[in-house]
Amino acid sequence: MAQILDGKKISEKIYTEISEIVQKKYAQNPPKLVVILVGDDPASAVYVSNKEKSCHKAGILSQTIRLSKNVSEEEVLKTITTLNIDESVTGIIVQLPLPKHISPEKVIMTIDPQKDVDGFHPENLGNLYLSKETEFLPPATPAGIITLLEENTIEIAGKNVAIVGRSNNVGKAISLMLLNRNATITVCHSYTQNIDHFLKNADIIVVATGKKQMITGEMVKNGVVVVDVGIHRHENGTLCGDVDFESVSLKASYITPVPGGVGPMTVASLIKNTLRAHEKKWKSRIF
Ligand code: GUN
Repeated sequence: MAQILDGKKISEKIYTEISEIVQKKYAQNPPKLVVILVGDDPASAVYVSNKEKSCHKAGILSQTIRLSKNVSEEEVLKTITTLNIDESVTGIIVQLPLPKHISPEKVIMTIDPQKDVDGFHPENLGNLYLSKETEFLPPATPAGIITLLEENTIEIAGKNVAIVGRSNNVGKAISLMLLNRNATITVCHSYTQNIDHFLKNADIIVVATGKKQMITGEMVKNGVVVVDVGIHRHENGTLCGDVDFESVSLKASYITPVPGGVGPMTVASLIKNTLRAHEKKWKSRIF
């Protein structure tokens, strides 16, 4: 039976560490995270509320700007521009998804890369491509996965990793972060033939497909480490991931639960990035 990669527990530890740093170094000028929430999507409202609670635990100021679902794209971009030049604001998040008439690409491009704590801006992703790990804000979910592996002392260098899914912010980004840590990477996607062949060879599997419980026990090898980025709701209201936890946990050495695995680590990474952005800002001060 697999050991649980407990994202909830590790995220709480990160908040304690961050709050100690903030108290010690930035008691007079704490970091501030602003979240822009457009519309009234209930899932987004829950995510935003979690971010506010996490800021509180970490001693970081938080503000949520709520905009109507009918707000114009221009108004959203103007709000971001105002936050970009506001000295009191350390980090900016625009909660996704956005209503159809607002382009997420334009929104992301408008956020100052130094305040982009989601790590979605092309400048931050470009620095990831160039392996300049200390010079940028890494994408939050992949950074959370790396922390989860490292905190459990799971070796990355030299391991065969299969990543299932190739989204910009998860699949592609985690492939680069693991490559930068000397793993051998295979990225599987909807055109991959014989995916079982790659999964059976993998020491670590990261699944971010958005397809409910698509990875099952018979597809993986004994002792594999499994990281599940997906989150879905069963008809009875319970949550599950892209991995069939019941069958895969019988073969894996480590596995993330859903909920309580990658989700809390993504939020912890956003908060970590907010501190990182603040430290950069205050280090660059000359007074
Ligand atoms: N919607 C769901 N997850 C996220 C996230 O990590 N960041 C943003 N901006 N929106 C999201």
